[in-house]
Amino acid sequence: MTTASERNAAIESAGFNLFNLHSQDVLIDLLTDSGTGAMSSDQWAAIQHGDESYAGSPSWFRFEAAVKELFPFKHVIPTHQGRAAEKIIFTVLGGPGKVIPNNTHFDTTRANVEASGAEARDMVIPEGRDAAAIHPFKGNMDLDVLELLLAQSAADVPVVFLTITNNSGGGQPVSLANIRATSELCHRYGVPLFLDACRFAENAWFIHEREEGQSGREIGDIVREIASLADGMTMSAKKDPFGNIGGWLALNDDDIAESCRNVLILTEGFPTYGGLAGRDLEALAQGLKEAVHPDYLRYRIRSTAYLGNALDAAGVPVVKPIGGHAVYIDAKALLSHVPPLHYPGQSLAIALYQAGGIRSCEIGSVMFARQPDGTEVPAAMELVRLAIPRRTYTQSHVDYVIEVVTSVAKEAPSLPGYRMTYEPQSLRHFTARFESIG
Ligand code: F0G
Repeated sequence: MTTASERNAAIESAGFNLFNLHSQDVLIDLLTDSGTGAMSSDQWAAIQHGDESYAGSPSWFRFEAAVKELFPFKHVIPTHQGRAAEKIIFTVLGGPGKVIPNNTHFDTTRANVEASGAEARDMVIPEGRDAAAIHPFKGNMDLDVLELLLAQSAADVPVVFLTITNNSGGGQPVSLANIRATSELCHRYGVPLFLDACRFAENAWFIHEREEGQSGREIGDIVREIASLADGMTMSAKKDPFGNIGGWLALNDDDIAESCRNVLILTEGFPTYGGLAGRDLEALAQGLKEAVHPDYLRYRIRSTAYLGNALDAAGVPVVKPIGGHAVYIDAKALLSHVPPLHYPGQSLAIALYQAGGIRSCEIGSVMFARQPDGTEVPAAMELVRLAIPRRTYTQSHVDYVIEVVTSVAKEAPSLPGYRMTYEPQSLRHFTARFESIG
Protein backbone atom coordinates (compact mmCIF):
# COMPACT_ATOMS: atom_id res chain seq x y z
CA MET A 1 0.00 0.00 0.00
CA THR A 2 1.23 3.49 -0.83
CA THR A 3 -0.28 6.95 -0.52
CA ALA A 4 -1.01 9.12 -3.54
CA SER A 5 1.89 11.43 -2.66
CA GLU A 6 4.27 8.45 -2.34
CA ARG A 7 3.17 7.24 -5.77
CA ASN A 8 3.57 10.69 -7.32
CA ALA A 9 7.13 10.82 -5.98
CA ALA A 10 7.88 7.25 -7.12
CA ILE A 11 6.68 7.76 -10.70
CA GLU A 12 8.48 11.10 -10.98
CA SER A 13 11.79 9.61 -9.87
CA ALA A 14 11.13 6.72 -12.33
CA GLY A 15 11.13 9.29 -15.14
CA PHE A 16 7.43 8.52 -15.67
CA ASN A 17 8.39 5.08 -16.96
CA LEU A 18 6.53 2.28 -15.20
CA PHE A 19 9.38 -0.16 -15.92
CA ASN A 20 11.59 1.97 -13.65
CA LEU A 21 9.33 1.64 -10.58
CA HIS A 22 10.33 -0.51 -7.63
CA SER A 23 7.73 -3.29 -7.63
CA GLN A 24 7.31 -2.77 -3.88
CA ASP A 25 5.67 0.53 -4.80
CA VAL A 26 3.10 -1.26 -7.01
CA LEU A 27 -0.14 -2.62 -5.51
CA ILE A 28 -1.56 -4.61 -8.45
CA ASP A 29 1.08 -5.46 -11.03
CA LEU A 30 -0.44 -5.89 -14.49
CA LEU A 31 2.76 -4.90 -16.32
CA THR A 32 3.04 -8.36 -17.86
CA ASP A 33 1.86 -11.95 -17.70
CA SER A 34 5.44 -13.04 -18.41
CA GLY A 35 7.18 -15.00 -15.66
CA THR A 36 4.73 -13.58 -13.12
CA GLY A 37 2.33 -16.53 -12.80
CA ALA A 38 2.03 -18.65 -9.67
CA MET A 39 3.64 -22.05 -10.05
CA SER A 40 1.53 -25.00 -8.91
CA SER A 41 2.40 -27.35 -6.05
CA ASP A 42 3.21 -29.98 -8.69
CA GLN A 43 5.63 -27.60 -10.37
CA TRP A 44 7.36 -26.87 -7.06
CA ALA A 45 7.49 -30.61 -6.39
CA ALA A 46 9.03 -31.20 -9.83
CA ILE A 47 11.72 -28.64 -9.00
CA GLN A 48 12.96 -30.98 -6.25
CA HIS A 49 13.78 -33.53 -8.96
CA GLY A 50 16.00 -31.07 -10.82
CA ASP A 51 19.22 -32.77 -11.89
CA GLU A 52 21.96 -30.23 -12.50
CA SER A 53 24.27 -32.39 -14.62
CA TYR A 54 25.95 -30.21 -17.21
CA ALA A 55 25.11 -32.55 -20.09
CA GLY A 56 22.39 -35.12 -20.67
CA SER A 57 20.45 -34.50 -17.45
CA PRO A 58 17.21 -36.49 -16.94
CA SER A 59 15.52 -33.11 -16.37
CA TRP A 60 16.42 -32.20 -19.95
CA PHE A 61 14.92 -35.39 -21.33
CA ARG A 62 11.70 -34.82 -19.36
CA PHE A 63 11.53 -31.26 -20.71
CA GLU A 64 12.23 -32.33 -24.29
CA ALA A 65 9.55 -35.03 -24.10
CA ALA A 66 6.99 -32.56 -22.70
CA VAL A 67 7.71 -30.08 -25.52
CA LYS A 68 7.52 -32.79 -28.18
CA GLU A 69 4.27 -34.14 -26.75
CA LEU A 70 2.62 -30.89 -27.91
CA PHE A 71 5.09 -29.67 -30.56
CA PRO A 72 6.63 -32.72 -32.24
CA PHE A 73 9.41 -30.84 -34.02
CA LYS A 74 12.58 -32.82 -34.67
CA HIS A 75 14.93 -30.44 -32.83
CA VAL A 76 14.24 -28.75 -29.50
CA ILE A 77 16.78 -26.12 -28.42
CA PRO A 78 16.32 -24.78 -24.87
CA THR A 79 16.87 -21.06 -24.18
CA HIS A 80 16.57 -18.90 -21.09
CA GLN A 81 13.60 -17.02 -22.55
CA GLY A 82 11.81 -16.20 -25.78
CA ARG A 83 14.04 -13.41 -27.04
CA ALA A 84 17.10 -15.66 -26.81
CA ALA A 85 15.38 -18.06 -29.23
CA GLU A 86 14.57 -15.06 -31.46
CA LYS A 87 18.16 -13.82 -31.34
CA ILE A 88 19.41 -17.24 -32.42
CA ILE A 89 16.95 -17.85 -35.27
CA PHE A 90 17.29 -14.34 -36.73
CA THR A 91 21.09 -14.50 -36.44
CA VAL A 92 20.88 -17.62 -38.62
CA LEU A 93 18.02 -16.65 -40.98
CA GLY A 94 17.95 -12.83 -40.93
CA GLY A 95 20.30 -10.27 -42.41
CA PRO A 96 20.23 -7.19 -44.67
CA GLY A 97 17.81 -7.37 -47.60
CA LYS A 98 15.60 -9.98 -45.91
CA VAL A 99 11.95 -9.41 -44.99
CA ILE A 100 10.31 -11.27 -42.09
CA PRO A 101 6.50 -11.13 -42.15
CA ASN A 102 4.41 -11.76 -39.04
CA ASN A 103 0.77 -11.09 -38.16
CA THR A 104 2.28 -8.60 -35.68
CA HIS A 105 5.82 -8.76 -34.34
CA PHE A 106 6.06 -8.26 -30.61
CA ASP A 107 8.65 -5.76 -29.37
CA THR A 108 11.59 -8.12 -28.86
CA THR A 109 10.79 -10.04 -32.05
CA ARG A 110 10.80 -6.85 -34.12
CA ALA A 111 13.99 -5.66 -32.41
CA ASN A 112 15.79 -8.96 -33.04
CA VAL A 113 14.73 -8.99 -36.71
CA GLU A 114 15.94 -5.40 -37.11
CA ALA A 115 19.17 -6.08 -35.20
CA SER A 116 20.04 -8.66 -37.87
CA GLY A 117 19.57 -6.00 -40.57
CA ALA A 118 16.31 -7.53 -41.85
CA GLU A 119 12.94 -5.78 -42.12
CA ALA A 120 10.07 -6.79 -39.79
CA ARG A 121 6.74 -6.45 -41.59
CA ASP A 122 3.32 -6.72 -39.88
CA MET A 123 0.49 -8.26 -41.93
CA VAL A 124 -2.46 -8.75 -39.62
CA ILE A 125 -5.97 -8.53 -41.15
CA PRO A 126 -7.42 -4.98 -41.15
CA GLU A 127 -9.83 -5.85 -38.29
CA GLY A 128 -6.74 -6.59 -36.19
CA ARG A 129 -5.66 -2.94 -36.38
CA ASP A 130 -9.07 -1.59 -35.39
CA ALA A 131 -9.65 -1.73 -31.63
CA ALA A 132 -13.44 -1.66 -31.99
CA ALA A 133 -13.89 -4.13 -34.87
CA ILE A 134 -15.53 -7.40 -33.84
CA HIS A 135 -14.02 -10.55 -35.36
CA PRO A 136 -13.52 -13.94 -33.67
CA PHE A 137 -9.92 -14.23 -34.91
CA LYS A 138 -8.50 -10.72 -35.07
CA GLY A 139 -4.97 -12.14 -35.00
CA ASN A 140 -5.34 -13.72 -38.45
CA MET A 141 -2.70 -13.14 -41.12
CA ASP A 142 -3.80 -11.08 -44.12
CA LEU A 143 -3.22 -13.76 -46.76
CA ASP A 144 -3.57 -11.38 -49.72
CA VAL A 145 -0.85 -9.09 -48.40
CA LEU A 146 1.41 -12.05 -47.63
CA GLU A 147 0.85 -13.57 -51.07
CA LEU A 148 1.70 -10.27 -52.76
CA LEU A 149 5.05 -10.23 -50.98
CA LEU A 150 5.81 -13.89 -51.67
CA ALA A 151 4.83 -13.62 -55.34
CA GLN A 152 7.18 -10.63 -55.75
CA SER A 153 10.14 -11.69 -53.67
CA ALA A 154 9.87 -15.06 -51.91
CA ALA A 155 13.66 -15.39 -52.20
CA ASP A 156 14.06 -12.47 -49.76
CA VAL A 157 11.74 -14.07 -47.19
CA PRO A 158 13.68 -16.67 -45.18
CA VAL A 159 10.75 -17.40 -42.84
CA VAL A 160 7.19 -16.27 -42.09
CA PHE A 161 6.04 -15.96 -38.47
CA LEU A 162 2.61 -16.23 -36.87
CA THR A 163 2.25 -14.97 -33.30
CA ILE A 164 -0.35 -16.96 -31.33
CA THR A 165 -2.06 -15.17 -29.70
CA ASN A 166 -1.29 -11.80 -31.27
CA ASN A 167 0.06 -9.88 -28.29
CA SER A 168 0.64 -6.43 -29.85
CA GLY A 169 -2.81 -6.57 -31.43
CA GLY A 170 -4.82 -7.18 -28.26
CA GLY A 171 -4.08 -10.82 -27.34
CA GLN A 172 -6.25 -11.90 -30.25
CA PRO A 173 -6.24 -15.48 -31.55
CA VAL A 174 -5.42 -16.86 -34.99
CA SER A 175 -7.87 -19.44 -36.37
CA LEU A 176 -6.83 -22.95 -37.31
CA ALA A 177 -8.13 -22.25 -40.82
CA ASN A 178 -5.88 -19.20 -41.10
CA ILE A 179 -2.86 -21.10 -39.77
CA ARG A 180 -3.58 -23.83 -42.34
CA ALA A 181 -3.97 -21.33 -45.19
CA THR A 182 -0.80 -19.45 -44.14
CA SER A 183 1.06 -22.75 -44.06
CA GLU A 184 -0.16 -23.75 -47.53
CA LEU A 185 0.76 -20.34 -48.93
CA CYS A 186 4.25 -20.38 -47.41
CA HIS A 187 4.95 -23.90 -48.59
CA ARG A 188 3.71 -23.13 -52.12
CA TYR A 189 6.54 -20.56 -52.25
CA GLY A 190 9.03 -22.81 -50.47
CA VAL A 191 9.20 -20.57 -47.38
CA PRO A 192 9.11 -22.10 -43.87
CA LEU A 193 6.41 -21.07 -41.38
CA PHE A 194 7.37 -20.54 -37.71
CA LEU A 195 5.13 -19.91 -34.72
CA ASP A 196 5.82 -17.38 -31.98
CA ALA A 197 3.82 -19.60 -29.67
CA CYS A 198 4.03 -17.99 -26.18
CA ARG A 199 0.27 -18.18 -25.69
CA PHE A 200 -0.47 -21.31 -27.75
CA ALA A 201 -2.81 -22.84 -25.16
CA GLU A 202 -4.97 -19.73 -24.93
CA ASN A 203 -5.04 -19.58 -28.74
CA ALA A 204 -6.08 -23.25 -28.89
CA TRP A 205 -8.83 -22.56 -26.35
CA PHE A 206 -10.25 -19.78 -28.54
CA ILE A 207 -10.18 -22.19 -31.50
CA HIS A 208 -12.00 -24.76 -29.34
CA GLU A 209 -14.63 -22.17 -28.37
CA ARG A 210 -15.05 -20.21 -31.60
CA GLU A 211 -14.13 -22.26 -34.63
CA GLU A 212 -16.60 -24.54 -36.33
CA GLY A 213 -16.06 -28.24 -35.69
CA GLN A 214 -13.42 -27.71 -32.96
CA SER A 215 -15.44 -27.80 -29.73
CA GLY A 216 -15.28 -31.58 -29.32
CA ARG A 217 -11.50 -31.79 -29.57
CA GLU A 218 -8.90 -31.98 -26.83
CA ILE A 219 -6.77 -28.86 -26.49
CA GLY A 220 -3.62 -30.94 -26.91
CA ASP A 221 -4.89 -32.27 -30.25
CA ILE A 222 -5.57 -28.75 -31.50
CA VAL A 223 -2.06 -27.71 -30.43
CA ARG A 224 -0.50 -30.70 -32.21
CA GLU A 225 -2.40 -29.86 -35.38
CA ILE A 226 -1.16 -26.26 -35.19
CA ALA A 227 2.40 -27.56 -34.77
CA SER A 228 2.00 -29.95 -37.71
CA LEU A 229 1.28 -26.97 -39.98
CA ALA A 230 4.52 -25.19 -39.02
CA ASP A 231 8.21 -25.87 -39.59
CA GLY A 232 9.39 -24.48 -36.29
CA MET A 233 8.69 -22.19 -33.38
CA THR A 234 10.15 -19.73 -30.92
CA MET A 235 8.78 -19.85 -27.42
CA SER A 236 8.77 -17.88 -24.22
CA ALA A 237 7.89 -20.46 -21.57
CA LYS A 238 7.24 -17.57 -19.16
CA LYS A 239 3.69 -17.32 -20.48
CA ASP A 240 1.36 -20.31 -20.99
CA PRO A 241 3.75 -22.96 -19.54
CA PHE A 242 3.82 -21.16 -16.14
CA GLY A 243 7.59 -20.68 -16.01
CA ASN A 244 9.25 -17.91 -14.05
CA ILE A 245 11.97 -18.26 -16.67
CA GLY A 246 12.47 -20.38 -19.80
CA GLY A 247 11.97 -20.75 -23.51
CA TRP A 248 12.93 -22.76 -26.53
CA LEU A 249 13.46 -22.84 -30.25
CA ALA A 250 12.17 -25.91 -32.09
CA LEU A 251 12.36 -26.84 -35.76
CA ASN A 252 12.55 -29.66 -38.26
CA ASP A 253 15.38 -28.60 -40.58
CA ASP A 254 18.67 -30.35 -39.67
CA ASP A 255 21.03 -27.75 -41.19
CA ILE A 256 19.31 -24.74 -39.64
CA ALA A 257 19.16 -26.59 -36.30
CA GLU A 258 22.90 -27.22 -36.43
CA SER A 259 23.64 -23.54 -37.08
CA CYS A 260 21.27 -22.56 -34.25
CA ARG A 261 22.92 -24.94 -31.79
CA ASN A 262 26.29 -23.42 -32.63
CA VAL A 263 24.96 -19.96 -31.74
CA LEU A 264 23.29 -21.45 -28.64
CA ILE A 265 26.59 -22.78 -27.32
CA LEU A 266 28.17 -19.36 -27.83
CA THR A 267 25.43 -17.39 -26.11
CA GLU A 268 23.24 -19.61 -23.92
CA GLY A 269 24.84 -22.93 -23.02
CA PHE A 270 25.15 -26.60 -23.89
CA PRO A 271 22.24 -27.95 -26.01
CA THR A 272 20.75 -30.00 -23.18
CA TYR A 273 20.20 -27.03 -20.87
CA GLY A 274 20.44 -23.85 -22.95
CA GLY A 275 20.09 -21.01 -20.51
CA LEU A 276 18.26 -23.03 -17.87
CA ALA A 277 18.95 -24.95 -14.69
CA GLY A 278 17.73 -28.55 -14.44
CA ARG A 279 15.11 -27.44 -11.92
CA ASP A 280 13.72 -24.89 -14.41
CA LEU A 281 13.41 -27.62 -17.05
CA GLU A 282 11.43 -29.75 -14.56
CA ALA A 283 9.06 -26.88 -13.68
CA LEU A 284 8.36 -26.27 -17.37
CA ALA A 285 7.79 -29.96 -18.18
CA GLN A 286 5.07 -30.01 -15.50
CA GLY A 287 3.71 -26.56 -16.46
CA LEU A 288 3.23 -27.66 -20.07
CA LYS A 289 0.88 -30.41 -18.89
CA GLU A 290 -1.17 -27.95 -16.82
CA ALA A 291 -1.33 -25.32 -19.57
CA VAL A 292 -3.66 -27.37 -21.78
CA HIS A 293 -6.10 -28.43 -19.06
CA PRO A 294 -9.59 -27.33 -20.18
CA ASP A 295 -10.81 -26.39 -16.67
CA TYR A 296 -7.83 -24.10 -16.22
CA LEU A 297 -8.23 -22.53 -19.66
CA ARG A 298 -11.95 -21.95 -19.18
CA TYR A 299 -11.19 -20.16 -15.89
CA ARG A 300 -8.30 -18.23 -17.40
CA ILE A 301 -10.16 -16.85 -20.42
CA ARG A 302 -13.33 -16.24 -18.43
CA SER A 303 -11.52 -14.26 -15.73
CA THR A 304 -9.79 -12.03 -18.30
CA ALA A 305 -13.19 -11.42 -19.92
CA TYR A 306 -14.63 -10.56 -16.48
CA LEU A 307 -12.32 -7.54 -16.29
CA GLY A 308 -12.80 -6.58 -19.94
CA ASN A 309 -16.57 -6.86 -19.90
CA ALA A 310 -16.84 -4.79 -16.71
CA LEU A 311 -14.74 -2.00 -18.23
CA ASP A 312 -16.76 -2.18 -21.43
CA ALA A 313 -20.02 -1.95 -19.47
CA ALA A 314 -18.63 1.11 -17.65
CA GLY A 315 -18.02 2.80 -21.01
CA VAL A 316 -14.22 2.42 -21.04
CA PRO A 317 -13.13 1.75 -24.66
CA VAL A 318 -11.35 -1.63 -24.80
CA VAL A 319 -10.16 -3.86 -27.62
CA LYS A 320 -12.97 -6.27 -28.41
CA PRO A 321 -13.44 -9.20 -28.28
CA ILE A 322 -11.52 -9.40 -24.98
CA GLY A 323 -8.16 -11.13 -25.49
CA GLY A 324 -6.71 -14.11 -23.70
CA HIS A 325 -4.00 -12.85 -21.36
CA ALA A 326 -4.88 -9.19 -21.06
CA VAL A 327 -7.42 -6.43 -21.45
CA TYR A 328 -6.29 -3.61 -23.73
CA ILE A 329 -7.67 -0.12 -23.19
CA ASP A 330 -7.96 2.00 -26.33
CA ALA A 331 -6.08 5.12 -25.24
CA LYS A 332 -6.51 6.75 -28.65
CA ALA A 333 -10.27 6.77 -28.09
CA LEU A 334 -10.13 7.64 -24.39
CA LEU A 335 -7.49 10.41 -24.65
CA SER A 336 -8.49 11.72 -28.07
CA HIS A 337 -7.11 15.16 -27.11
CA VAL A 338 -3.54 13.77 -26.87
CA PRO A 339 -1.85 13.28 -30.28
CA PRO A 340 -0.23 9.82 -30.81
CA LEU A 341 3.31 11.20 -30.59
CA HIS A 342 2.49 12.75 -27.23
CA TYR A 343 1.85 9.19 -26.11
CA PRO A 344 -1.76 8.90 -24.88
CA GLY A 345 -1.14 5.31 -23.74
CA GLN A 346 1.80 6.35 -21.58
CA SER A 347 -0.28 9.14 -20.09
CA LEU A 348 -3.09 6.75 -19.17
CA ALA A 349 -0.70 4.15 -17.74
CA ILE A 350 0.90 6.82 -15.52
CA ALA A 351 -2.53 7.99 -14.34
CA LEU A 352 -3.60 4.43 -13.42
CA TYR A 353 -0.50 4.12 -11.27
CA GLN A 354 -0.94 7.51 -9.65
CA ALA A 355 -4.61 6.88 -8.89
CA GLY A 356 -4.46 3.31 -7.61
CA GLY A 357 -0.96 1.82 -7.65
CA ILE A 358 -1.83 -0.29 -10.72
CA ARG A 359 1.05 -0.96 -13.11
CA SER A 360 0.10 -1.51 -16.76
CA CYS A 361 2.05 -1.38 -20.01
CA GLU A 362 1.80 1.00 -22.96
CA ILE A 363 1.58 -0.85 -26.27
CA GLY A 364 1.52 1.98 -28.78
CA SER A 365 3.80 4.69 -30.08
CA VAL A 366 6.22 4.59 -27.15
CA MET A 367 6.84 0.93 -27.96
CA PHE A 368 6.64 0.98 -31.75
CA ALA A 369 6.85 4.49 -33.30
CA ARG A 370 10.64 4.78 -33.70
CA GLN A 371 11.63 3.48 -37.16
CA PRO A 372 15.00 1.98 -38.13
CA ASP A 373 15.67 5.14 -40.23
CA GLY A 374 15.25 7.35 -37.14
CA THR A 375 11.85 8.84 -37.97
CA GLU A 376 8.86 8.50 -35.67
CA VAL A 377 5.65 7.10 -37.19
CA PRO A 378 2.59 6.60 -34.93
CA ALA A 379 1.77 2.99 -34.12
CA ALA A 380 -1.36 1.36 -35.58
CA MET A 381 -3.05 1.54 -32.16
CA GLU A 382 -2.44 3.32 -28.85
CA LEU A 383 -3.17 0.68 -26.22
CA VAL A 384 -2.70 0.26 -22.50
CA ARG A 385 -2.43 -3.40 -21.61
CA LEU A 386 -3.68 -4.76 -18.32
CA ALA A 387 -1.93 -8.15 -18.44
CA ILE A 388 -3.21 -10.78 -16.02
CA PRO A 389 -0.54 -12.94 -14.36
CA ARG A 390 -1.67 -16.58 -14.32
CA ARG A 391 -3.26 -17.98 -11.14
CA THR A 392 -2.11 -14.93 -9.15
CA TYR A 393 -4.85 -12.38 -8.46
CA THR A 394 -8.32 -12.90 -7.02
CA GLN A 395 -11.64 -11.49 -8.16
CA SER A 396 -11.52 -8.86 -5.41
CA HIS A 397 -8.18 -7.60 -6.75
CA VAL A 398 -9.77 -7.37 -10.18
CA ASP A 399 -12.82 -5.55 -8.78
CA TYR A 400 -10.44 -2.97 -7.36
CA VAL A 401 -8.81 -2.59 -10.79
CA ILE A 402 -12.25 -2.05 -12.34
CA GLU A 403 -13.00 0.74 -9.82
CA VAL A 404 -9.68 2.50 -10.39
CA VAL A 405 -9.78 2.29 -14.20
CA THR A 406 -13.38 3.48 -14.30
CA SER A 407 -12.64 6.51 -12.15
CA VAL A 408 -9.46 7.41 -14.09
CA ALA A 409 -11.41 7.10 -17.37
CA LYS A 410 -13.76 9.84 -16.15
CA GLU A 411 -10.75 12.16 -15.69
CA ALA A 412 -9.20 11.21 -19.04
CA PRO A 413 -9.91 14.53 -20.84
CA SER A 414 -7.68 16.33 -18.31
CA LEU A 415 -4.66 14.00 -18.63
CA PRO A 416 -1.52 15.54 -20.21
CA GLY A 417 0.63 14.37 -23.11
CA TYR A 418 4.27 13.37 -22.53
CA ARG A 419 7.59 13.82 -24.32
CA MET A 420 10.76 11.80 -23.96
CA THR A 421 13.74 13.33 -22.20
CA TYR A 422 15.90 10.25 -22.76
CA GLU A 423 15.63 7.48 -25.32
CA PRO A 424 17.98 4.52 -25.91
CA GLN A 425 18.94 3.12 -29.33
CA SER A 426 16.43 0.25 -29.44
CA LEU A 427 13.56 -1.17 -27.36
CA ARG A 428 13.19 2.35 -26.00
CA HIS A 429 10.08 1.71 -23.91
CA PHE A 430 12.04 -0.26 -21.31
CA THR A 431 14.37 2.55 -20.26
CA ALA A 432 13.11 5.85 -21.77
CA ARG A 433 12.39 8.80 -19.45
CA PHE A 434 9.52 11.25 -19.88
CA GLU A 435 8.19 14.62 -18.79
CA SER A 436 4.63 15.89 -19.09
CA ILE A 437 3.72 18.51 -21.65
CA GLY A 438 1.97 21.48 -20.09
N1 F0G B 1 6.91 -13.05 -28.35
C1 F0G B 1 5.79 -12.59 -27.76
C2 F0G B 1 4.49 -12.64 -28.49
C3 F0G B 1 5.86 -12.07 -26.46
O1 F0G B 1 4.75 -11.63 -25.88
C4 F0G B 1 7.12 -12.02 -25.80
C5 F0G B 1 7.25 -11.45 -24.48
C6 F0G B 1 8.24 -12.53 -26.47
C7 F0G B 1 8.09 -13.04 -27.75
C8 F0G B 1 9.61 -12.53 -25.84
O2 F0G B 1 9.68 -13.46 -24.80
O3 F0G B 1 10.08 -12.08 -22.74
O4 F0G B 1 10.59 -14.53 -22.78
O5 F0G B 1 12.00 -12.94 -24.03
N2 F0G B 1 6.35 -10.75 -23.97
C9 F0G B 1 6.32 -10.21 -22.62
C10 F0G B 1 5.10 -9.34 -22.49
C11 F0G B 1 7.57 -9.59 -22.15
O6 F0G B 1 5.02 -8.57 -21.53
O7 F0G B 1 4.18 -9.47 -23.30
P1 F0G B 1 10.64 -13.22 -23.53
